[in-house]
Amino acid sequence: MALYSDTVMDHFRNPRNVGVIEDADGIGEVGNAKCGDIMKIYLKIKNDMIEDVKFETFGCGSAIASSSMATEMIKGKPVSEAMQLTNKAVAEALDGLPAHKLHCSVLAEEAIKAALQDYYEKNGIPYDKTQFPDCESCGHCER
Ligand code: FES
Repeated sequence: MALYSDTVMDHFRNPRNVGVIEDADGIGEVGNAKCGDIMKIYLKIKNDMIEDVKFETFGCGSAIASSSMATEMIKGKPVSEAMQLTNKAVAEALDGLPAHKLHCSVLAEEAIKAALQDYYEKNGIPYDKTQFPDCESCGHCER
């Protein structure tokens, strides 16, 4: 069996939603301290819906495929649904990732969560802080 699924290769070669949203409502940037890869997610949110989402990823193929798939999975969805997105769901939607590449999908989940937290903070929206990893225990966040 090939190391990477056709879906991973497709999203790696033709990543969806690459770019920047200049007037984003939420921006999340996370990095993996071990591999040095960085992922940045931009969200445009209107009426509690993810109206648009873009990403920039400086990282491995699996990180690019994970960002592409994750952005597709939250686009047009309510904020509450985007909050529920897990790295497991992203990896499953990609028809699997090799075990040593699962952390790349974690980066996608964390970048989206960081962008949502930024959206809540910027707009003074009260939110459950326990849904987000705190900085001391996580260490992935670039901020
Ligand atoms: Fe760093 Fe994939 S190896 S995110």
